[in-house]
Amino acid sequence: MQYMATDTPTTAAPSEDAIRDALATVNDPEIHRPITELGMVKSVDIAADGAVSVAVYLTVSGCPMRETITSNVRDAVAGVEGVTSVAVELDVMSDEQRKELATALRGGTAEREVPFAQPGSLTRVYAVASGKGGVGKSSVTVNLAAAMAADGLKVGVVDADIYGHSVPRMLGAEGRPTQVENMIMPPAANGVKVISIGMFTPGNAPVVWRGPMLHRALQQFLADVYWGDLDVLLLDLPPGTGDIAISVAQLVPNAEILVVTTPQQAAAEVAERAGSIAVQTHQKIVGVVENMAGLELPSGEIVDVFGTGGGERVAEGLTKTTGTQVPVLGSIPIDVRLREGGDEGRPVVLTDPDSGAGAAIRAIAGKLGGRQRGLSGMSLGITPRNKF
Ligand SMILES: Nc1ncnc2c1ncn2[C@@H]1O[C@H](COP(=O)(O)OP(=O)(O)OP(=O)(O)O)[C@@H](O)[C@H]1O
Ligand SMILES: [Mg+2]
Repeated sequence: MQYMATDTPTTAAPSEDAIRDALATVNDPEIHRPITELGMVKSVDIAADGAVSVAVYLTVSGCPMRETITSNVRDAVAGVEGVTSVAVELDVMSDEQRKELATALRGGTAEREVPFAQPGSLTRVYAVASGKGGVGKSSVTVNLAAAMAADGLKVGVVDADIYGHSVPRMLGAEGRPTQVENMIMPPAANGVKVISIGMFTPGNAPVVWRGPMLHRALQQFLADVYWGDLDVLLLDLPPGTGDIAISVAQLVPNAEILVVTTPQQAAAEVAERAGSIAVQTHQKIVGVVENMAGLELPSGEIVDVFGTGGGERVAEGLTKTTGTQVPVLGSIPIDVRLREGGDEGRPVVLTDPDSGAGAAIRAIAGKLGGRQRGLSGMSLGITPRNKF
């Protein structure tokens, strides 16, 4: 007896879902995650006769694992019911695709996230920057932090000046960080939590770090340090427009820049240049602080050691460059007590709050600390009450 071809019981061709499920069991041999999650499956074609061809993206051309991937894909797909043959074709990811993959991997379990960069974060992050060195960034950072903490805010400081690291001494935070599980517990002084690269290098050994290491260090300071719920985080940046400023922009895009300058023309020009980097990184400039303004003599006479008007000039320049209003937040006079306080680890805002410098910094702290925190666009987890 003869059977008609149409009567032959044929196994149905496999579904695409079944093939993709099989592909999900294949891990990239190096990344150890399913190729389906890594965007490595370019296409799946299933012919009516059960012949399947799969195109796979390799992360780089000349990938040493190409044989392994090919045979693992072939084995996995061949095991699906209804598959009669498997062809595997290889392609290579574009730069764009590789970038997406790297981002996806970073967002996953590979690296801890920076809590302050999350959409729901209530912490205001201020990056204290200047073009020129020695204008008082660290002094301003430390005193702002101490003043805000005295006002009842929860404050943290990251000494991101990997070469300078003067913040712990200025704050009187000489303790060492401790490690609990995978978290680094920051020492605290005067109610301010602080972390600095200086706490991780033996003695005063100079640190020569390259860009990627700086980025990694900052990433760790932000992600692996247990900060708790902070109201304000201040980052003391190194002078200039270097790698760290770019890293801050990448790691905490919502960080706002606080520009410190002296009243001097030259310092004002460089401060403006440092501030305009914010335009490129799309960061907001919260304002300008003029430091080392008029020194008051015992006679009451004011001596403008570094000239006048630098703060205003920088603010005007930045307002033009950014197209948004950049205010002068305050002007801090030269004050021996501020310098002494820094040397002794006792911020002048606490020891001499009503001195010229102390009062000026406390006023700036009030403006920065009292600002509405970033609630806009956040879900508050409440449901509207029914009107009827
Ligand atoms: N308003 C001020 N009155 C008196 N001394 C000040 C004032 N501001 C800063 N100083 C002193 O000036 C010196 C430089 O200040 P500071 O270290 O804060 O500057 P910086 O911008 O952080 O420097 P760097 O670029 O090296 O990081 C310090 O000795 C500090 O005590
Ligand atoms: Mg400094």
